[in-house]
Amino acid sequence: MLLQDKVCVIVGAASLRGIGYAVAELFAEHGAKIIAVDILMNDIITSEIKASIDSKTGRNAYVSGIRCDIANSADCRQLFKEALSRYGTVDCLVNSAAIVKAQSMLTIEEADYDRIMGVNLKGAFNLCKSALEVFAERKSGTIVNVASVAAQRGGGLVGGAHYAASKGGVISLTRTIAREFGPLGIRANVVCPSMTETGMLDGMTAERQKEIEMSIPLQRAGRPVEIAGACLFLASDLSGYVTGATIDVNGGSHIH
Ligand SMILES: NC(=O)c1ccc[n+]([C@@H]2O[C@H](COP(=O)([O-])OP(=O)(O)OC[C@H]3O[C@@H](n4cnc5c(N)ncnc54)[C@H](O)[C@@H]3O)[C@@H](O)[C@H]2O)c1
Repeated sequence: MLLQDKVCVIVGAASLRGIGYAVAELFAEHGAKIIAVDILMNDIITSEIKASIDSKTGRNAYVSGIRCDIANSADCRQLFKEALSRYGTVDCLVNSAAIVKAQSMLTIEEADYDRIMGVNLKGAFNLCKSALEVFAERKSGTIVNVASVAAQRGGGLVGGAHYAASKGGVISLTRTIAREFGPLGIRANVVCPSMTETGMLDGMTAERQKEIEMSIPLQRAGRPVEIAGACLFLASDLSGYVTGATIDVNGGSHIH
C-alpha cells in the first residue's frame, strides 16, 4: 500500500478507458482516497467509476466525483474547496486532462490555438495553482502532470503544433513549480507517455497503429495502467527525492 489514506485528486478521469481512470484505480488499490475529476463528471459516471474500482480492489473504496472545467480558474479553486470540505485535506494532484486536435501548422486558427492552450496549459496552471494554495499551507503535497512525447520530439502522432507546445508548457510549468516549492517539501514531476491505448486513438486506423507500433522498440502501444504506474511512483514516498523530473513512458520510441 503505497498511498494508504492519501487524498488524491485525479483530473481527466471520466473515461474508464483513459489514463486518468487507470491512475484512480491503481491509486485506490494502494489505499488512496480518490476524487475523480473531469469536465464530463456527473453522478452516473462517478457511480460507474466507483463500481469499477470496487470490483477491482474488492473493497468499498473511497471514491467521489467532482465536475470541473480546468480552463476555468474559478472551477479549479472551487474543486479544491470542495475536496477539502469532503476529505479535510489533499495530498496529491494528478492532472491527466487534455484535449488534442490533429492539424498541420498552417491550418491552426487562433480559436484552435486558444482552445488547446486554454485546457492543456492554462488548465494545468489553474489546477496546480489551486493545489499549491492548499499544499503550501500544509507544507506537503505532490503534483504529477501528464504531458506527452509530443513535447519532446517536435510534435506527436495525433496532435498538432498547438498540442505539442501546450505539453512543452506543462513540462516547463512543472519544473518551475518544483524549484519554487521544493523548499516547502512539495514535489512536482511530469510523465510523458507516447501512443497509449485510450479513446484518444479512436480516430486512427488499425493499419496506421500497427505501422507505428512496429517502429517502437517494445513494438506495441502503451497501456493506461503502465502510465499509471509511473504516476504511482511519483505520487508516493518511493520517489521522495525526485522533483522536477520528466519520466518517459514511451516503449523506447523516443530515447534521448
Ligand atoms: N493516449 C495517448 O496516446 C496519449 C499520448 C501522450 C499523452 N497523452 C496524454 O495523456 C492524458 C490522458 O489522455 P487519455 O489518452 O487518457 O485521453 P482521454 O481523452 O481519455 O482523457 C482526457 C480527459 O480529459 C478530460 N477533459 C478534457 N477537457 C477538460 C477540461 N476542460 N476540464 C476537465 N477535464 C477535461 C476529458 O473529458 C477526458 O476524460 C492527456 O493529458 C493526454 O494528452 C495521451
